[in-house]
Order: sequence, then structure tokens, then C-alpha cells
Amino acid sequence: MSNPMSNNPLFSFERTENGLIDARKYTLYEVLLDPRLDTLNLDKRQQLFYDFISDANRLKYSANKKYAQNGANTERILVDPDSNQTSRLVNFASNNYLNLATHPQVVAAAMEALETFGAGSGSSCITTGRTRVKSELEQEIAQTFDYEDALVYPSGFMANTGVLQGLLRSNDVAIVDMYAHASIMDGVENRNKILFQHNDMASLERTIKRADSQYANKIIVVDGVYSMDGDIANLPEIVGLCKKYRCKLMVDEAHAFGVIGKHGLGIADHFGMSNDVIDILVGTLSKAIGSSGGFVSGSKELITYLKYASRPYFFTTAPFIPSMAAALEAIRIIKSDASRRQQLWENIAYFKAKVLTGGFNIGAAQTAIFPIILGNHHLVMDTTVRMGQNGVLAMGVVYPAVSRKQARIRMNVTAEMSREQLDKGYEVLCQSLAQEQPDYFSSTLNLPT
Ligand SMILES: Cc1ncc(COP(=O)(O)O)c(C=O)c1O
Repeated sequence: MSNPMSNNPLFSFERTENGLIDARKYTLYEVLLDPRLDTLNLDKRQQLFYDFISDANRLKYSANKKYAQNGANTERILVDPDSNQTSRLVNFASNNYLNLATHPQVVAAAMEALETFGAGSGSSCITTGRTRVKSELEQEIAQTFDYEDALVYPSGFMANTGVLQGLLRSNDVAIVDMYAHASIMDGVENRNKILFQHNDMASLERTIKRADSQYANKIIVVDGVYSMDGDIANLPEIVGLCKKYRCKLMVDEAHAFGVIGKHGLGIADHFGMSNDVIDILVGTLSKAIGSSGGFVSGSKELITYLKYASRPYFFTTAPFIPSMAAALEAIRIIKSDASRRQQLWENIAYFKAKVLTGGFNIGAAQTAIFPIILGNHHLVMDTTVRMGQNGVLAMGVVYPAVSRKQARIRMNVTAEMSREQLDKGYEVLCQSLAQEQPDYFSSTLNLPT
């Protein structure tokens, strides 16, 4: 019998001269995620994707083909394995906001832990894998956010999926901001999930009302700072709605911890509120903290429950001990020394003034993440490649990570960037855009001076 899908236009992707799938014509969605691909056998699916990504590599779209020869600091030394060429780029593509990943005290703490504990934890935390370092880190996190207890996971992704999968049962619902991180989306089965419009309080209230009669327990889930937009959740109003409709609140502080708030402690600190308005606080140790790992903090009952109910906690080997020692040291630095955060905010203000004066659309960005919204998939991809050739590392963010109309170049500012590096980032952005689309500035923007 003939395959009913064989005539589907989906499978007649336009090819380049050398037989690859033309990466300028398709997005990851069409070649990786489209549900119609389910009808193909595994080998065919992999072959299609390989044909696409090979063309993306030829066009230098996939930055991950290159590898770095140094740490994630303000300059990245990248090697292209195809040509063996090395390039030095100003790094606007890092979440190491406070540049703590290479801080001497942080590195020394990791080295000491490595010498003391060795390379591996040997078993899961729930059996015998828990070490002094993990216990101290969990206590430090709980105390930092003023909760009773905390749990550290090997990554922020595992923390989000682990917490949500562990908590939600058939009678429960997660009411999730539609821009929340993939790890939150993946933590909740669709039957337990309702999305609301991004940071839109009327939409949130409508959604809560809709869920109210159907579910016993409602958890509202938001990011403190949104990873692709750099804007901040409207915590005061969200808290008001949680109280009004008896919902629990979970906040992912991945891009907020270390960055926003008078003391760098995230969203509650930013709004001058106490953390007790947040029932479940989740975060990562991989961004401003400069290490890797994730955590959840809350009441002793919540944490005890999750220790057993959260499968990505229960069934995995305890996190890498030097990473936890590094994170512990970094958190102590954040709490005792505000100078890096001040430097970061000076850099944010400086860069923001430049991009706004230049007329760029940065949406509602308020933090160290600058979405340069161009709204054109290929212009974003080609300009990002061009920026790399011109000495600046930035990230192209396109569909399905954001909507097609919101395609953007994401440029992150970090604390140790010099004025020269910030200037270079801006100038290279303008220069590369002008090279890719010569009429871009005459039609939309002021030319940089
Ligand atoms: C908002 C948000 N939450 C969670 C994560 C996952 O954190 P990790 O990289 O530690 O797994 C990320 C990282 O990309 C993120 O941006």
C-alpha cells in the first residue's frame, strides 16, 4: 500500500545544488518539530534533519559547531573545527551576568572540592550521594531566600521539570505564562496546563477563573525575568490574584537571581516584597551564579515531599561537587559584595541608551538581556553570522523559540564588559545589519554616530 504521506508537500523540501535542505527557507519547526514528521520512520526523520543542519552549518548558522578555548568571559576565543581558524569575539551571548564563572575565589572553591571529594558523587542524594558541600549549599540557598529548606538538582532544567512533575496530579493545574521557559512547559503535561498571555494580568485572571471550577489545586508559574525578552514579571499583581483565587505561586528566578533587586536576590527583592509571597522558588546556578545546577526552595514540607516525589531528584546521581562548591562561593560573593551588580547595571544603562538612541526595538527589556527585535528570520540569522565575522558573539533567536514576527538578535550585557566592548557590540550590530540589508537604517533607524 502506498504511504498516504508520500505526496505531502512537507516532504518535498527545497534542496540546494548539493542536495541539502535549504536552511534559508525553513525553520527548526518544519524539519524537527512539525507533528506531520511523526509519520516518517526514524531513519528518514534523522536524514531529513541532517540534510537541513548540514546546510545550516554551511551557512554558519549553528554557532554550536565552534568550540571555545577559554572560559565564558567577556571575550570568547572560538575555534572553527572545519577551518581550524581561531577568532576572538566580544561575548554578548553569555548568561554569566556577573562574570563569576572565572572569578578566582569561585575557581579556587571548585578546585578544593575536587581535591577533597574527587570527580563523582557516586550515588543519588536520596541514598548516599549527599555531601557536606551539598548540605551547605542547600542551607545557604534557603537562608538567602528566607525559606525553611532547599534542594539542589544537577541543572535548572531538571529542577523545573522535577518540581512540576512531582507536584501536579490529575486534579491540579499549572497556569503558566506563555513565555515561560521550556523546562516549565516540559514539566507539565498538557492536560494539567493552561497558558495565559505574557505578563498580561487580565488574561491571567480570566484563565484562573476558567480553571477555578475544574481543578482542586492551581499553581501559577512565571519566570522572574523572561529569558528571551529580559522583562520582569508583574509580581505585585500576580500575588494579588494568587491570594484572591487561592492559588500557589511558583517563580523561576533563573535570570533574576544575582541581577535584580536591591540585594540581587531576585524578583521579590526587586519589588521590595518578602519572599513569603512565593510558595515555590526555583532557580539555576548556571547564570549569574556562574556554575551549573538548579534548585528549589520553600517550606520544609514542600522540600521533604519533593525529595521523594520528584523523579529527576530521586533517580539521578548527586550533582557535580565542584560545581556546587563554586556556586556556594559565588552566592556568598553576591551577598557580600554589591560592586559587580552595580557594574552590571551601569553597563545595562549604557548599552540601553545606545540601542534606544539608535532606534532599535528592544520590546519591554528591563534587565541585562537585550532582544534586538528585527522580525525577519533570515535577517536575524545572517546578521548574527556577520556579527561573528566582525568580532561580536550574539545569539540569533528565531521561530519556534519566539514567534516569527518576533525574530531577534539577543545580546546579553555582563558586569566586566568595558565601555570599548559595549561600544563594539553596538557598532558591530549596526555595521552588520547595514551589510546584510543596506536600506535597513534609512527605512527604520538612525545611523550610529
Ligand atoms: C528561565 C530559565 N529557567 C531554567 C533554565 C534552565 O537552567 P539550566 O541551564 O541550569 O538547566 C533556563 C536556562 O536556559 C532558563 O532560561
